[in-house]
Amino acid sequence: MTKNGNKISIVGAGQVGQATAQMLARENFCNEIALIGRKEGVPQGAALDIRHAIPLYDSDTAIYGYHDYAALCDSHVVVVTAGYPRKPGMSRADLLDTNKPIIEEVVANIVKYAPQAFIIVITNPVDVLTYYAWRASGWDRNRIIGLSCVLDSARMVSLIAHKTGCSPKEISALVIGGHGDSMVPLPRFSRINGIPLDVFLTKQDVVEIIRATRQAGSEIVALKGTSGYVAAAASIVTMLDAIINNRNHILPCVAVLAGEYALENMALGVPALIGGEGVQKIIELPLNEEETTAFLRSAAEVREILQCGNV
Ligand code: APR
Repeated sequence: MTKNGNKISIVGAGQVGQATAQMLARENFCNEIALIGRKEGVPQGAALDIRHAIPLYDSDTAIYGYHDYAALCDSHVVVVTAGYPRKPGMSRADLLDTNKPIIEEVVANIVKYAPQAFIIVITNPVDVLTYYAWRASGWDRNRIIGLSCVLDSARMVSLIAHKTGCSPKEISALVIGGHGDSMVPLPRFSRINGIPLDVFLTKQDVVEIIRATRQAGSEIVALKGTSGYVAAAASIVTMLDAIINNRNHILPCVAVLAGEYALENMALGVPALIGGEGVQKIIELPLNEEETTAFLRSAAEVREILQCGNV
């Protein structure tokens, strides 16, 4: 990855925020990282720990911890991880009441201190809160993106790799829709070095991979008692790289829809061209009847949560 001389701020110095800062420092493609957290001392201490590792990473990224939103000044991109994660038995939607006011506060401060920035929302329920963040910002929709399907697709790739024994580097998989149990893994749009999955996998294998992809996040929560964060952080760094380094990557992201897939007034996981201008184009896939039904079902589920939050 190349160095581009930009500042990236991360709001929320918890598991996801700290892991993202660490991976970003290692990648060395931005000039400066600001890790901003609510509990005095925590972001500063975490930033110091990462700073000590930077010489060993062969990196020269600067990193600072802050307790104050004024540190958002001059950010090129702000990553929002502030908010609470799931506990066992909770769905992502259960977090809405707790996390909505946090997003409200954070977005107001981004608008105040970093009016030129792009925003990547991580806090769950991410599809609903991305839409809410966009509305609260009053900005063009290309500047607000949510993380979901980069992570869900990576999980699908890892399951396909495990089942087939093929290298994950050879595999591309695509998941769209909401970041919940109704997400839509798309085996028809997934390949192993260009070869369709059914050359390697039985129908039953594919059904099992779809089920396991949908349950991947919950499986981690059930095992360790709280959300995963390593794959989330790696997914965030992938999205940041696409924006900061103007990669023009096709990444499945939570994007605000304005008629694409005949949907509007909501944000949902769809493939998009991501580059220096954020969401540069939303790709409308030629879905078959079964895929369309599943996608619209997922959209309806997200819209229901959106309406619960009176957004
Ligand atoms: N401003 C700044 N930080 C805040 C605020 C706020 N208003 N409210 C909470 N935070 C901080 C908490 O102090 C904590 O440090 O957000 C951080 C959340 O960290 P964790 O509890 O470790 O949660 P994490 O696993 O990082 O997940 C954060 O990302 O993937 C999603 O579902 C996950 O919504 C959750 C979010």
